Amino acid sequence: MTLNAKITMTKSCLGNLSYAFLLLTFSTFAVAENAGPAIRASFHKCLTQNTKTASEELSKIIFDQSNSNFNTVFQNLARNKRYMISKTPKPLLIFTPLEESHVQGAVICAKTHKLQIRVRSGGHDYEGVSYISKEPFMILDMFNLHTVTVDVKNEKAVVQVGATLGEVYYRIWEKSKVHGFPAGVCPTVGAGGHISGGGYGNMLRKYGLSVDNVIDAQIVDVTGNLLNRKSMGEDLFWAIRGGGGASFGVIVSFTIKLVPVPEKVTVFSVEKTLETNLSETEFVEQWQQVAPTTDDRLFMRLLLQPVTSKVVKGMKTVKTTVMALFLGGADEVVSILKKEFPLLGLTKENCTEASWIDSVLWWNNVESLKKGEKPETLLNRNLNSASFLKRKSDYVQKAIPKDGLEEIFKSMAELGDIGFVFNPYGGKMGEISSDATPFPHRKGNLFKVQYSVNWNDPTTEAAQKFTNDAKRLYSVMTPYVSKNPRGAFLAYRDLDIGVNNFGSNSFEEGKVYGTKYFNANFDRLVDIKTNVDPDNFFRNDQGIPVRPTKS
Ligand SMILES: Cc1cc2nc3c(=O)[nH]c(=O)nc-3n(C[C@H](O)[C@H](O)[C@H](O)COP(=O)(O)OP(=O)(O)OC[C@H]3O[C@@H](n4cnc5c(N)ncnc54)[C@H](O)[C@@H]3O)c2cc1C
Ligand SMILES: *[C@@H]1O[C@H](CO)[C@@H](O)[C@H](O)[C@H]1NC(C)=O
Ligand SMILES: *[C@@H]1O[C@H](CO)[C@@H](O)[C@H](O)[C@H]1NC(C)=O
Repeated sequence: MTLNAKITMTKSCLGNLSYAFLLLTFSTFAVAENAGPAIRASFHKCLTQNTKTASEELSKIIFDQSNSNFNTVFQNLARNKRYMISKTPKPLLIFTPLEESHVQGAVICAKTHKLQIRVRSGGHDYEGVSYISKEPFMILDMFNLHTVTVDVKNEKAVVQVGATLGEVYYRIWEKSKVHGFPAGVCPTVGAGGHISGGGYGNMLRKYGLSVDNVIDAQIVDVTGNLLNRKSMGEDLFWAIRGGGGASFGVIVSFTIKLVPVPEKVTVFSVEKTLETNLSETEFVEQWQQVAPTTDDRLFMRLLLQPVTSKVVKGMKTVKTTVMALFLGGADEVVSILKKEFPLLGLTKENCTEASWIDSVLWWNNVESLKKGEKPETLLNRNLNSASFLKRKSDYVQKAIPKDGLEEIFKSMAELGDIGFVFNPYGGKMGEISSDATPFPHRKGNLFKVQYSVNWNDPTTEAAQKFTNDAKRLYSVMTPYVSKNPRGAFLAYRDLDIGVNNFGSNSFEEGKVYGTKYFNANFDRLVDIKTNVDPDNFFRNDQGIPVRPTKS
């Protein structure tokens, strides 16, 4: 049997939708009979004592495994099918708060019921950390808290964590055609995990990460208090802008600073197959030089995908696609790239000029504008559209030499399933100091690498093969990427780089993945964690550990 990989993240975030039908035949969850109702009743009672909401209202938003809606609620926002198989432990409860006080009550009641909390905002965690736990747990599913309040006059917005990025962009667009927000390019991603994980998108060279544009936040801490920037203090406010929310409490909202966007922007996608006697290595070498150094208004993502040759029968080769946003007109970007990136051969015909919101649609799906999609598309959460996937990340700090590129292409073609997305840095990213937020990968990084593979065979053999292939390519990349520590991006969650069992060795375990995600900022995160949650109630596979007490 040949395994069929499907590389997404290429032209569309919606690639996953095409096999939504698989869920129909997918095995149902092993639900422990009768485990739920007792806990549910007791948790419900606790909530009535710790919120002001009527008991009947609360009962509509608590789900245990015996509820007929339980599987639907669980699956709606679970995005990685690899973690939806029957043997993956399921939550005892799912609670879907409607207001802040419900979140406060949930923290208090989870503790008295000895339940771990998994907070889920959009459910896009690549390793399912927002809906899986080895310990008895509940999901605090934040999707009902999705209000986005835009204040154009003061150029800011309050974004509740359950909002998707698509909603954020849409609500800004409703009020202003010349404002935007620098965040991810897939509209269904949740604001909660995205912003607390750093958050980057196609305006990062001009405006930095999402977290560089956050000015306030609300969080429920381990004692159930609702805090804002002033009452939480600058340390905790620093930590939740890139250190991951889940180690510190439950974030309810972020206040973001809007950024100006021109009325007209330009997008283009240019494809080259590396078999047309255009030297593939020269093309990528030129991209490496230009993409991280060019005009800040230009973001040129490079996608590399193994494909079957159209020229030589049966031969595997690599296809490159440059996908770009320019915060300006087509004539200007064509003239910039004619000079700086002649091998791209960009012409005005290759460019589409659009409003910023239309560029958001285009990045989600390059066919969207041709199809006449409207901004309302951005409000679609695409529920229940999980696929089997694996992602990893790396940082390149020195241009990969020619022979290195050749070796990489060869491995990609041989493996035949793992794609790469190179996201250039530079611009604003190089101007912000590495300790301004927990996210450390700033100056000196040319680009971030994402490893990407999706598949649709549900067997464990398939999962094994594709995750192993990703590891093999990761190993090929070793000489060309950052080292000591080898950097990784928290929002591209990857459990291969270390997990925590929260035993006596917890701090040392945490240091392994913590220094990769946060470099020297790991220490400050540990201190803040130790301060705000000394008993480590808010823990997960890759949480920030508390500082060990001297014995
Ligand atoms: C299709 C797709 C496209 C993506 N594109 C981009 C991109 O362009 N740019 C980018 O930077 N990243 C991107 N990512 C990665 C994405 O930013 C992260 O997966 C992010 O964590 C998702 O946020 P979420 O709320 O949807 O995830 P969730 O799975 O809900 O949460 C992720 C983590 O954050 C924690 N968390 C969530 N909400 C809260 C909260 N309110 N309080 C405390 N902790 C919380 C969870 O417990 C979990 O640990 C993409 C992911 C996918 C699947
Ligand atoms: C770019 O435009 C040229 C004509 O100017 C055309 O030949 C080429 O196919 C276009 N490339 C893409 C990817 O659209
Ligand atoms: C590429 O060049 C080789 C010789 O160097 C030639 O045999 C081949 O036909 C060329 N292929 C294309 C697609 O031009």
